[in-house]
Amino acid sequence: MQKKVTKIGVLTSGGDAPGMNACIRAVVRTGLYHDLEVFGIIRGYSGMIEDDIIPMNSRSVANIIQRGGTILKTARCPEFMTPEGRKKAYNNLKKRGINGLIIIGGDGSFRGAQIFSHEYDIPCIGIPGTIDKDIAGTDFTIGFDTAVNTAIDAIDKIRDTADAHDRLFIIEVMGRDAGYIALHSGISTGAEHILIPERKTDMESLLRSLHEKEKRQKLVNLVVVAEGDDFGGGNEVAKTIKERMPNVDMRVVILGHIQRGGSPTCLDRLLASRMGYSAVECLIEGRNNVMVGIMNNKMHYTPLDNAVKAKQKISDEWMKIVKILAS
Ligand code: F6P
Repeated sequence: MQKKVTKIGVLTSGGDAPGMNACIRAVVRTGLYHDLEVFGIIRGYSGMIEDDIIPMNSRSVANIIQRGGTILKTARCPEFMTPEGRKKAYNNLKKRGINGLIIIGGDGSFRGAQIFSHEYDIPCIGIPGTIDKDIAGTDFTIGFDTAVNTAIDAIDKIRDTADAHDRLFIIEVMGRDAGYIALHSGISTGAEHILIPERKTDMESLLRSLHEKEKRQKLVNLVVVAEGDDFGGGNEVAKTIKERMPNVDMRVVILGHIQRGGSPTCLDRLLASRMGYSAVECLIEGRNNVMVGIMNNKMHYTPLDNAVKAKQKISDEWMKIVKILAS
């Protein structure tokens, strides 16, 4: 029988995502509502190992719901993947009596939590916070909607100048292993081509299509490329196009980390608030080693082990839509 949770720790880990602050706020205030003591762990698992842990109250999370980044800071922490690192982290939680942990992060962060919760008697609940939306067991991850809207805003602006000069633009968006930002932002901005890590890039077919559009005098062409596309990202794609179409007027834009910052959208604030609330409820109900997600607008709980292994799948129908709408 799991012990009653009385003191909880919350941390953000991996790449930051807009909405993480709204989620920390929800965790802290729900915890306090249930008379729990809440601790913030600074810089993810690094803070657990280095004992950088602070008590939090309602005022600690005032005025943050609208802010990007994370007030708890974040880091990727290879030391937590070692038994020695996890032992140090456990001792630091234990000496404060922390008996429940909430981890806001991506699959790498969940992998750490999964091992930790199997080794030690501290239940762990994961909340998916990553702009990449590459975690199974949830329709959305915190930060994705904001990142996509940032990308859309930028690509719309690029379209204006592309149109003025009749130019081809190659726009690289984030997504090392996942093409969701590319797919959603590309469809929403009317991109002609979208290249993603989940599909092999067919450069010959892309070139054929660009030639054909040139003949039809379709001069504005936007190609959205996920950074993890198998061809090597925006610069590589542009290099090959230039070699094969030397006269093409083309520019490359790498959107980069602007996609990670900024004030979270309504959707991200709602997700963050609901998931943060629900993660605390999970600990109180005695759940362990699960990720809180939202599917079909309902809370959904996935064992961390599965959340780590599986990825969301990109449907072929979405790819068909891209093709038909870009003609
Ligand atoms: O996982 C989120 C993400 O933004 C990826 O899309 C991107 O590849 C990576 O993080 C970049 O990480 P860093 O900020 O460490 O360069």
